Amino acid sequence: MNDRLAGIKQEILNGIDQLAASRAAAFELRKQFLDSKTGKIGQLMKEMKNIAPEERAAFGKNINELKDWAQQKFSELDEKLKARELERRYESEKIDVTMPARETETGNLHPVTQIRNQLMDIFVGMGFEVAETREIENDYYNFEALNIPKDHPARDMQDTFYLSPEYLLATQTSGAQIHTMEKKKPPIKIVAAPGKVFRSDDDATHSPMFHQMEGLVVDERITMCDLKGMLELFAKKIFGEDTTTRLRPSYFPFTEPSVEVDVSCFSCGGKGCRLCKGTGWIELLGAGIVNRRVLENCGIDSEKYSGLAFGIGLDRAAMLKYGINNVKLLFESDLRVLRQINDN
Ligand code: PHE
Repeated sequence: MNDRLAGIKQEILNGIDQLAASRAAAFELRKQFLDSKTGKIGQLMKEMKNIAPEERAAFGKNINELKDWAQQKFSELDEKLKARELERRYESEKIDVTMPARETETGNLHPVTQIRNQLMDIFVGMGFEVAETREIENDYYNFEALNIPKDHPARDMQDTFYLSPEYLLATQTSGAQIHTMEKKKPPIKIVAAPGKVFRSDDDATHSPMFHQMEGLVVDERITMCDLKGMLELFAKKIFGEDTTTRLRPSYFPFTEPSVEVDVSCFSCGGKGCRLCKGTGWIELLGAGIVNRRVLENCGIDSEKYSGLAFGIGLDRAAMLKYGINNVKLLFESDLRVLRQINDN
């Protein structure tokens, strides 16, 4: 009988030795011996009746000892496997706290957005409100109401992308003047953004898509002096006190008189170079006193009120301010260029 007990002991030891190191397998093995109904050790108890009465006590004691021993063995095994599993988990989840952190990159606003924000700040500081521009206009807002009737030669000044005979990609932000005056009565003092405009035009200083900011002031007794004063202040604030500007007589159908405001060329400092086409000046904005017809088109009494308007090229302003000599650099999304310009 004692041989059988020793046999079971050996079986347990062999089983433990060969065991795949999983707690589930250990549990199964334990069941084979210690399950209260089917376990091999429990089965031995049933043989009690075949044992001589005087040996029964010793037999029972031996079985109980074996049971204790087996229980002890299996709980040791379980502890060991538990520890090993934990160790394995720690290993796989190990974090090297001395490793250098991954760099996080912060972006910056596009140069045109930066300029637009700066301009808005300046004009809002002068008491302007901000209105919205549209990318798609119809013929009336982009041309007709701005005193540019069909067949007017001024339409040739702006090579238009037509979407249909009626709708087009805005060639200028001046349509915002009409939208504003239709909705608001004087006094009006607005700048309009974001100002995306489109013209079929393409060289070092022209991109087919570019940006303007439109300004409009309508009130009693608005004159050219107001215009000059505001634009002078704006140019100095944005380009520095040394900046020189000049007003040139110009022509726009929606302003009368009209002017063009130039800023001294950043590339040659005014001596004349390829960028400024030898003139020393770069055209920055068009402006003027709002044509009476435009006021009347919007139902504003042109005897009582007068207005000033200006349209600033934001891309030009960004080029001037950040020393960019080709407008394409602004729109090629080359991060090496864009990363250098961070003014905010
Ligand atoms: N819309 C004109 C242009 O795109 C600029 C302008 C705006 C001129 C307002 C006068 C008044 O060239």
